[in-house]
Amino acid sequence: MTSVSDNGHQAPMIDLRSDTVTRPTPRMRAAMAESFVGDDQYGEDPTVNRLEAMAAELLGKEAAVYVPSGTMGNLSALLAHCGRGDEALVGDESHILWFESGGPSTLGGIPLFALKTDRRGRLDPVDIVNAIRADRPGYPRTGVVCLENTHNRCGGVVLNLQYMRQVREIAHDRGVPIHLDGARIFNAAASLGVPASVVAAEADSIQFCLSKGLGAPVGSLVAGTGEFIQNVRKQRKVLGGAMRQSGVIAAAGVVAFETMIDRLPEDHARARTLADGLAAIDGIRIDRESVQTNIVVFKLEGTQDHAEFIAGLKGRGLLVSNYGLRGVRMVTHYEIDDAAIASALGIVNVALADIRETVRVPA
Ligand SMILES: Cc1ncc(COP(=O)(O)O)c(C=O)c1O
Repeated sequence: MTSVSDNGHQAPMIDLRSDTVTRPTPRMRAAMAESFVGDDQYGEDPTVNRLEAMAAELLGKEAAVYVPSGTMGNLSALLAHCGRGDEALVGDESHILWFESGGPSTLGGIPLFALKTDRRGRLDPVDIVNAIRADRPGYPRTGVVCLENTHNRCGGVVLNLQYMRQVREIAHDRGVPIHLDGARIFNAAASLGVPASVVAAEADSIQFCLSKGLGAPVGSLVAGTGEFIQNVRKQRKVLGGAMRQSGVIAAAGVVAFETMIDRLPEDHARARTLADGLAAIDGIRIDRESVQTNIVVFKLEGTQDHAEFIAGLKGRGLLVSNYGLRGVRMVTHYEIDDAAIASALGIVNVALADIRETVRVPA
């Protein structure tokens, strides 16, 4: 395992922008090269069939379907839950609302009704009760309630099982299903100390990504009942996401299931080390309690320009993401080892000191 990526011809960089930047492991590449494939639209790709069966079993659901991206996973699931004009309840900080180009409303005629999200990624259960529509001619039907676990924009925080159960009961009592955007459900499960199936049991459908902490190059899965997944297959076709010999890429997903789930706590431990190190640096404000998985978000105190700070990090070999007003995001993943964390902290220290010197920000 390496601490830095060599990024082609450029100087080595420590890439903490996201867990999506990981390249396939040697075992993944070997499995891809040797994969048995067939036409998946005839149901004849043995590797895709295996990946889907493994996903269903891991999540404790009847069936699963392989889709090219998390965005398509969420969209195809919402299309399967909702008819045109049905409303989807989402959090106002959710990935579905912020980063998926309004797909549900653009392509499905599904308006997104956004509820306030708290710092821990939760929607207020009372708001959910009030937002689920009564059966009146003037109201759209509420087609689905969406949760996100772990929660990306809230810094990788984990929804606990009691909360998820409470929301499921509220929704089910009113005849509304739950969709979980579980792009990082295995991180959530690792943090909660339970199998992913226990988290998935609190939702009717789940989308999760192979291409994030699990390190595979492509793809997500949607899991649910057999009947629901048949519908998602149809929606995937409508969206142009049904593939042919996709076993070539699914093979890396099989290896991800076999080799990458159990190591996620390492990423979480490194994220905590990073957070502790950042907290000790003058000029950085960080809520360490929100560092529950592999995402670390912090802010700069005072008037430091965080664009300049981020550029300063990059110039010294550290890539991070911009995160809202004066915010910075760092994500650990399997290509980041202890040495990379130590180097990253050193670079942050130097870059901040440099900014302080040039702008002479009061201590
Ligand atoms: C919570 C969450 N959901 C969905 C997605 C979308 O996944 P993709 O980029 O594969 O479309 C992401 C991507 O970062 C995500 O963080």
